[in-house]
Amino acid sequence: MTEISVVRGDITKLEVDAIVNAANPSLLGGGGVDGAIHRAAGPGLVAQCRTLGGCETGEAKITGGYRLAAKAVIHTVGPVWHGGDQGESALLASCYRNSLALAEEHNLKTIAFPAISCGVYGYPIPEAAEVAISTIREHLNEPSNLERVILVAFNDEIFDANQRVLAD
Ligand code: APR
Repeated sequence: MTEISVVRGDITKLEVDAIVNAANPSLLGGGGVDGAIHRAAGPGLVAQCRTLGGCETGEAKITGGYRLAAKAVIHTVGPVWHGGDQGESALLASCYRNSLALAEEHNLKTIAFPAISCGVYGYPIPEAAEVAISTIREHLNEPSNLERVILVAFNDEIFDANQRVLAD
């Protein structure tokens, strides 16, 4: 039975098989968690990202973890929030679904997600928590190699929102 848990903290410190990066379509780094992951991973990460040819919103690509505690980084590009009537929830669900599919392809046991799109991209946190957890639960209705899926909250608002949804 795969465990889903919410932890408070910095995703770059987690010793897991893969951490997920909330990237932008260039995959060449940015601010927020993207910046933190690239800073912690070192220059090897962006060098590999340069070979990937970018990433569409909702898609996911995998690289090594370099100097990170995690073995791999799964880069996904979340939707920018435009009010909710431009397919944002379906695109956010695709980020989680495609990241989990990559984890299965690579036979990973543990994966950690930040709150994708909940920073610069402005996705409302309660709605994003619903999308994240329902998509993860849907994935885990099928046989999975995953032992643990971790939702990493960088602040209390995200932590509380994820805990509330998980408790439902
Ligand atoms: N560990 C875990 N979560 C973090 C960390 C960290 N070290 N740093 C930031 N976060 C959280 C933020 O608090 C937010 O809840 O990650 C969530 C996602 O926020 P952003 O990093 O701003 O990502 P997003 O909203 O998806 O916007 C992506 O921002 O950094 C740029 O290049 C990135 O253009 C892309 C855009």
